[in-house]
Amino acid sequence: MEKSQSIPYLLSKLSDLPSMPEVAQKVLALIRNPKSNMAEIGQILSLDQSLAMLVLRWANSAYYGLRHPVSTVNQAVIVLGQQAVRNVILASTVAGMMDRSVEGYGLEKGDLWQHSIAVAGAAREIAKNKGYELAEEAYTAGLLADIGKLAFETLLRDVDLTQPEWQGQAFSDLEEEYFGIDHAELGAELARRWNLPPRLLDAIQHHHEPTKSSEGRSLSYAVHLADYTVMIMGIGIGRDGLQYHLDPSAVEFYEFNESVLDQLTEEIPDFILASNSMIRNVPSEI
Ligand SMILES: [Fe+2]
Repeated sequence: MEKSQSIPYLLSKLSDLPSMPEVAQKVLALIRNPKSNMAEIGQILSLDQSLAMLVLRWANSAYYGLRHPVSTVNQAVIVLGQQAVRNVILASTVAGMMDRSVEGYGLEKGDLWQHSIAVAGAAREIAKNKGYELAEEAYTAGLLADIGKLAFETLLRDVDLTQPEWQGQAFSDLEEEYFGIDHAELGAELARRWNLPPRLLDAIQHHHEPTKSSEGRSLSYAVHLADYTVMIMGIGIGRDGLQYHLDPSAVEFYEFNESVLDQLTEEIPDFILASNSMIRNVPSEI
């Protein structure tokens, strides 16, 4: 398949997936509009009861550490700010899209979601010492880094991975070989169609090779290190993940050492449980 043909084809595979609710689309459009304000965003969000509840739970979650819980959607959007509100919407949309098995990658139902939410949370944690805004961007990019796998997977089911030429190869090389692009590039294309900013597209596209990033490496480094951490933990890796090349510049930039890795490894399982409870209404004590 030629690259020019495969991108529209693969994107059409992504559009078979559940689409974003109308209220969510309207809120994202408001966030893109520099003239909009938080009150308008709160007003639109209030039209969708489940999104409104989610925004409230999100603002009151441990990460934001509020001394006094907020009780209205308008207060919650002010606490969160535009980027975190965008994350609430994207996380709930992505949870719906990923609520299935991804057989081509050997991922059972829930695996890709767990992987993605873990990368999002870890990337936000890694980036937070360098600023709140960067941390929220890192969450978005981490969440969407592997979403392109959803489009490739039905095609990869027919590929015989036991062939000797695939031994020791990374999955992204396999995608590139067969379809001319990899899941990182396809994820960036999806993010572009959702009108997300170029910085985010860039970090999604380069999460495996962050030094190729052209829009600020702080973001792609955070996603790369988070992805590595989650891979090491074996969360939602399926047939992928054994060939991960950790980038030394990313390690240096965030002073990513054993103790940071240990701390993340300890925090991530709780973060996944809390996210499941908050976003998918799965009880947190399973
Ligand atoms: Fe990836």
